[in-house]
Amino acid sequence: MYKPPERIKHALPEGGWPDAAQAAGARWFQPIALGPVRLRTRTWVPAMVPWRASEHGEVTPEVLDWYGRFAEGRPGAIVVEATGVRDVPSGPLLRIGHDRFVPGLRRLTQTVRERSDGNTRLFVQLIDFLAIKRRPDPATFFRRHLVLRERHRMAVPDARDDDAVREGLLAMDDARLAEVLDERELEALRMGLRERVTDLHLPHVRALPQTLPASFAQAAARAQAAGFDGVELHYAHAYTMASLLSARNDRDDGYGGSREQRLRLPLEVFAAVRAATAPEFAVGCRFLAQECIPGGSELDDAIAYGLAFARAGMDFLSLSRGGKFEDAQQPKIGAAAYPYTGPSGHECMPTTLSDARGPFGRNVAAVSAITAALRREGLATPVVVTGGICSFTQAEAILERGDADVVGAARQSLADPDWFLKLERGHGDAVRRCKFTNYCEALDQQHKQVTCQLWDREALEQPDVPLSSDGRRRLVAPRWPGRDAAPR
Ligand SMILES: Cc1cc2nc3c(=O)[nH]c(=O)nc-3n(C[C@H](O)[C@H](O)[C@H](O)COP(=O)(O)O)c2cc1C
Ligand code: SF4
Repeated sequence: MYKPPERIKHALPEGGWPDAAQAAGARWFQPIALGPVRLRTRTWVPAMVPWRASEHGEVTPEVLDWYGRFAEGRPGAIVVEATGVRDVPSGPLLRIGHDRFVPGLRRLTQTVRERSDGNTRLFVQLIDFLAIKRRPDPATFFRRHLVLRERHRMAVPDARDDDAVREGLLAMDDARLAEVLDERELEALRMGLRERVTDLHLPHVRALPQTLPASFAQAAARAQAAGFDGVELHYAHAYTMASLLSARNDRDDGYGGSREQRLRLPLEVFAAVRAATAPEFAVGCRFLAQECIPGGSELDDAIAYGLAFARAGMDFLSLSRGGKFEDAQQPKIGAAAYPYTGPSGHECMPTTLSDARGPFGRNVAAVSAITAALRREGLATPVVVTGGICSFTQAEAILERGDADVVGAARQSLADPDWFLKLERGHGDAVRRCKFTNYCEALDQQHKQVTCQLWDREALEQPDVPLSSDGRRRLVAPRWPGRDAAPR
């Protein structure tokens, strides 16, 4: 995990917890319409992958427990984790690329409806991603994976045959390899092979403009059939759609280069999704206020994207920042690169060990500029902000200033899924506050079931506590003992 060189330790912001009457009048707890869908409050649990799906990407009882637990806190909306739109194996990540996934997803929407007593709207985040391989063992890379070229053969001139060339390359030190291998070969060796949207020599990458609109549209139609209130198109972080939007996308087929061309496929995907779903179904997207990598999209790009999405008719715009592969740390041999390990990862999920700006509300200024640009153009599309927001005071200030219309909290909601309900009932003093040290994120990085350090060792011996596969952590937060005593 990247830590800024300054390593300034930041204290949690003051809670400023309201009593029940103040909460009832607070901006955060007022309703809002996201196009056709009305949220009871402006509280939001953003997408978080918990590694609970089956090996085949289906909803499991653990998935139901995870979202059911968030629903008990009655946020205005929950966004279900990044869910794959294609019908390809991707391990225990949720999928929606075939009709067989619909019955499980329907159980999920029913669970959230029941456990929130109908108070929480449910969206699912739709994702497409390209292949990424684990960092190879150098012996395997040189003996099996590297496609030998003349350049490699010339670098081992006394080799009798290609096997000897491979052994010669394997024996080279890093400095020599940097001369002999090209940039992508070096990356494949040091980080693991990663496909890019600009790899037009790969037929499936060249064909993305033909395949993606239909994949997303069919997935959205399934989400509607499963009872979701809407979809959040995942145009953020390290994945296909964000890479198409990126200022680094220089595809020369009309889908890269200028801003207009980078926006083309994201808008075509949206149009296909809108056409495949009913008017009462909300369609929005999550994208980056800033990519936070050299040569990446900046705030003026994001303003242009936001205006284009709003003009196209999106029902909400949810903003994140950073989270890119381009500056990720080198993974261990046998592990895959993780897009939240570099400086852009810190922008996305900052910890309390940060720089002078600190981890709290790091995305607010940029999001505020995007909201202001929308409003100047007469566009009322609701904007969702997330990133280091964990107190009532922060959220109220954001809404009061008009920086955004909905305020999300991911890790704070994981630390205490009841926290919105506690605030509404005037029990802010009972909120279990996130420490922002990213134990949960480290679990995600290792593809382990995500839990929170503040509760995952609590009362493990009690009956009916679902445990992680190694039996050492509980999978959902303990019940709030005051829940039934507190006024409803
Ligand atoms: C375990 C974990 C999994 C996440 N998975 C997703 C995801 O599937 N999609 C997404 O857009 N963001 C994902 N995020 C990022 C969060 O939605 C959020 O943007 C980030 O944690 C910063 O917000 P916070 O400070 O409120 O936690 C994930 C974050 C965590 C901690
Ligand atoms: S594990 Fe740490 S960072 Fe993650 S939700 Fe819990 S307290 Fe917050």
